[in-house]
Amino acid sequence: MYFGAAWYPEHWPEEAWAADVHKMAGIGFNVVRMAEFAWSSLEPQPGEYRLDWLERAIDLAAGAGLQVVLGTPSAAPPAWLTAADPETLAMDPHGQRLQHGNRAHYCVNSPAYQAAVGAIVSQLAERFGSHPAVIGWQIDNEYHRVCYCPVCRAAFQQALRRQFGDLETLNARWTTAYWSQAYTDWAQIPFPVGAHNPGLMLAAKRFVSESYRRFQALQIARLRPHLKPDDFITHNFFVWWEGPDPYSPAREALSQDLDFASWDWYIGQGHLDPVFSASAHDCSWGLRRRNHWVMETQPGTVNWAAVNNALSPGELRRMAWQAAAHGAEAVLYWQWRTMLGGQEQYHGALLDASGQERPFVQEIRQVAGEFAQASAALGGTHPKAEVALLNCYQSRAALTYQPHHRAFDYTTHLRHYYAPLLRGHIPAHILPPEAELAGYRLVIAPALHILTLGLAARLQAYVEAGGRLALTCRTGFKDEHNALWPLRGPGLLAELAGVEVEDYYALDEPVSVNADFFNGQATIWAERLRPRDETTHCLAVYGPEHGWLSGRPAISAHPYGAGWVYYVGAWLDDAAQASLVERLAAESQAAPLWAAPPEVEIGRRVGADGCPVYVVINHAGQPCSLDLPAPLEDILQGGTTTRLELEAQGVAVLAGLTW
Ligand code: GLA
Repeated sequence: MYFGAAWYPEHWPEEAWAADVHKMAGIGFNVVRMAEFAWSSLEPQPGEYRLDWLERAIDLAAGAGLQVVLGTPSAAPPAWLTAADPETLAMDPHGQRLQHGNRAHYCVNSPAYQAAVGAIVSQLAERFGSHPAVIGWQIDNEYHRVCYCPVCRAAFQQALRRQFGDLETLNARWTTAYWSQAYTDWAQIPFPVGAHNPGLMLAAKRFVSESYRRFQALQIARLRPHLKPDDFITHNFFVWWEGPDPYSPAREALSQDLDFASWDWYIGQGHLDPVFSASAHDCSWGLRRRNHWVMETQPGTVNWAAVNNALSPGELRRMAWQAAAHGAEAVLYWQWRTMLGGQEQYHGALLDASGQERPFVQEIRQVAGEFAQASAALGGTHPKAEVALLNCYQSRAALTYQPHHRAFDYTTHLRHYYAPLLRGHIPAHILPPEAELAGYRLVIAPALHILTLGLAARLQAYVEAGGRLALTCRTGFKDEHNALWPLRGPGLLAELAGVEVEDYYALDEPVSVNADFFNGQATIWAERLRPRDETTHCLAVYGPEHGWLSGRPAISAHPYGAGWVYYVGAWLDDAAQASLVERLAAESQAAPLWAAPPEVEIGRRVGADGCPVYVVINHAGQPCSLDLPAPLEDILQGGTTTRLELEAQGVAVLAGLTW
């Protein structure tokens, strides 16, 4: 496990650096990230590169036993660049160029900006790519800005031309005869500001994602030839939050060219929500199906929340171990030391403005020791799961643009299926729809609203081969242009599912839903299902007092090929949802790891030898005892045990003696 912090030597006199790196090493850190915002220190004037200071900082870190991740500095351009060429600054939706002094405020499609970024990245790659202490690179920092400038708009129009070929096709796919939107010239097509034609909106999100992918690719192209074979290239994404703009780039498109995905984990106001963060870890891991990094996480507090409360004692340790439980290979805090100036003076850091350790650093020391103890056991292992949830950013975008019920949030709906699995100790992966599905006993595709012919064919093949596919409400309503299929839901998958959606209802009041294995209610959304053939089983029906839904099927199961397809037309209450997910997993033979209370989290990582390593976290405020499935080696406490005693907020790392 890598364990460390973000360090900004450029904020401090050089004579302070040695003490910093030795304090980090003294805490037990073994990695530090640098330079992602250092452009004005690295190139104070155009073409005048000052990289020696960074080499001295890297060497100091290396001398203290710290390995280094370098950031490319493209998220924060120097003043000489933005002043010389204001078109390098992004334009807001109102036509105003953003002001220098922020970050991520550049135009991603600006040729001048791309050239300047290429130059500085090449300098860094050539100078530090072979440095033995540099183990990896982070491209930029948290892509999210959407630029509304003429260059971006023209590039968008060219992208549409390439995609559609001719305006007749575009107008037909977007039904632009509606509201007299029809385009007679590519130059007429706007980059949408806020809500617009659904086809235009989804195309805009794809364009922004591809713009950042090209921007990222130009940096990767300059880095890769100079890196050592095992050096990695990653990016630190947000995860469930995509950014402030409806057209912010999608990590699913961007992560394809990275060795693995990293994410920045901040709780902000409030406290650890194990389901939210576990699902975020699994989403990050699932982007590349590779162990991910938590490139930044919260040391005590943030500074951008409404209330910047501190994490409570024990929370930081549970967070660190939850990351490891879900496949993270690194946890780094943002940041090492509170800077004296700048917009984040009040953000948490391990050292305060006086340079002294904050109280929670003792907990970080404890984790550092535990990570060191467990590293050998965790090395070479990755999360193993028999259940996969599909996370489709295009479906998410389409439903975000047109929720039809203000509470219909895509990621909340996905976590509604994920939570019972986590609490039921059934490991799950969260994958992009294009991921390989063979090997999963159960695939859950929450609200797969955008459904292409290709994806439908892949899901059909998965089911035909014996897979169990659970589809949920609003599946298959739209095509890749965000246009409705001229079909009833689940559209292309109706034959597989053995049902069709006769109609759908945004609920303004709950409706009862009853099955032989639960009695519950639906809120937010309900669909009236009609079986398409006699092999379709009805698993649940709406109660008698609900208008068009009364007595109609709410959930179905349908054999297809060697597999089964479930269709869940209702957004169930938590208890009913837990019963449903438990039933789906049981029928798929996706077994729980072992019996444990829901507030005890069990992560399983498996190595090439098949031997499991379990990370067990007691998120509860009271102790618990667990019978283990077999004698396991207690990595942190030593010895072998068949019964685990965990104190409140306790953590255990247990290695399987056999698989
Ligand atoms: C983001 C950025 C960091 C820092 C933190 C503060 O994650 O990547 O540079 O600003 O927010 O929470």
